[in-house]
Amino acid sequence: MSEQLLIKEAFEAIKFAYVPYSNFKVGAALLSKSGKVYHGCNIESASYTPTICAERTAFSKAVSEGETQFDAICIIGGKKGNIENFTYPCGVCRQVMMEFCDPATFKIIIAKSLTEYQTYTLAQLLPFGFGPSDLK
Ligand code: THU
Repeated sequence: MSEQLLIKEAFEAIKFAYVPYSNFKVGAALLSKSGKVYHGCNIESASYTPTICAERTAFSKAVSEGETQFDAICIIGGKKGNIENFTYPCGVCRQVMMEFCDPATFKIIIAKSLTEYQTYTLAQLLPFGFGPSDLK
């Protein structure tokens, strides 16, 4: 799947962001190795701590349906859903990616539009990460 198609999916995902406290909407589209796309949005909570990021929503949906292998994720975000800057994944989400993805090959696409985007590997965004292989 092309980067543009995954970006389009992230723009679908952000529509459901539930952000009554921060007003900062995030959308994620996670591509599994089987070719399926899982959408995720951030879901906030009045008690703040239970808030879940868009990326982890997407991973939870995928893993709970039996997917554990992934090729790429696209992330978009912005105040009130206006995508003016690049939104990078938080540290907790990078660690969750480390659980299921090969840091050398998993692609993280940070987008502002269909044509303005950056692509990183997980290893670039989480250098020297600790993961499942360390416990073997
Ligand atoms: N957020 C995400 O969904 N993903 C990130 O990687 C960064 C932060 C959300 C959490 C919260 O709902 C809002 O953005 C402001 O922190």
